[in-house]
Amino acid sequence: MFQPKATRSALRAAAKLSRKAPALMTRSHFIKYFLTGLGTAAILSACENSGSNTSSTSKGNSQTATAGKTIKVATEPAFAPFESKGSGNELVGFDIDLIKAVGQAAGSTIEFQSLPFDGMIPALQANTVDAAVSAITITPERAQTISFSRPYFKAGLAIAVRQDNTTITNLDSLKGKKIAVQIGTTGSKKAKSISGAQVREFDSTPLALQELANGNVDAVINDAPVTLDAIKSGNIKGLKVVGQLLTEEYYGIALPKNSPNLNAINTALAKIISDGTYAQIYKKWFNAEAPKLPETAPASSS
Ligand code: ARG
Repeated sequence: MFQPKATRSALRAAAKLSRKAPALMTRSHFIKYFLTGLGTAAILSACENSGSNTSSTSKGNSQTATAGKTIKVATEPAFAPFESKGSGNELVGFDIDLIKAVGQAAGSTIEFQSLPFDGMIPALQANTVDAAVSAITITPERAQTISFSRPYFKAGLAIAVRQDNTTITNLDSLKGKKIAVQIGTTGSKKAKSISGAQVREFDSTPLALQELANGNVDAVINDAPVTLDAIKSGNIKGLKVVGQLLTEEYYGIALPKNSPNLNAINTALAKIISDGTYAQIYKKWFNAEAPKLPETAPASSS
């Protein structure tokens, strides 16, 4: 498939990252790091969004895609270990395996489409895709314009700084600081709520982390599992995670409001959670037992 030059190099960078992910995830410290919000060395290669189609077979029917139909799913594959590009340019990650298993359980074929993260909610609203799976946090604000499946992953935001930084240790010490974030994310919203903070928004999380490593900002606020994965994969040196997690967030599969697929997707999710498929996917990517998930996201989260 033809890819513009910039996209090709971004894909190569993303592939490099994702190849390292499985090795990283087998390290037993990951969960401890994640839970305590503490990290060590960091490295990350800049990697831009790809706006390309990553797989296309047939056209999905956004209004009637249920069992037996094709479900067109948007994703932004620069967010390992949830979604990134493998060495053969294929989509890999926890979310990718999860939605494929959901599709199988629902008797549907999944067709992926890469989209920038901040383009996902508009695409769902315009019904140009049937769903989006991209570590998307269920928030009351988003739930006004799109629908969410039951939660499928518990995460939270973490603060990353350069390793030699000793002054930023928690949310309070971010006041008046320069903070890099990915545009349209909960991390961006959090950063903008900090008094006097100068928030710089980037198209992708790897670009935001690169900006921090380059010394151009003081911190990054981003989903903890992704920042920790980037740090441990070793492509950019010199970052660490500090303080406690800033939020408790739950990821959901996002759908257009009143999507005819909502029930089928929730039923399929429940099925793969109860038959052990979910636990297997969780183990593959996080080398840990899957935690018990609530059936609805707690109102206090995000
Ligand atoms: N969980 C965060 C949010 O929903 C960040 C998700 C970013 N996902 C991605 N594939 N870049 O805002």
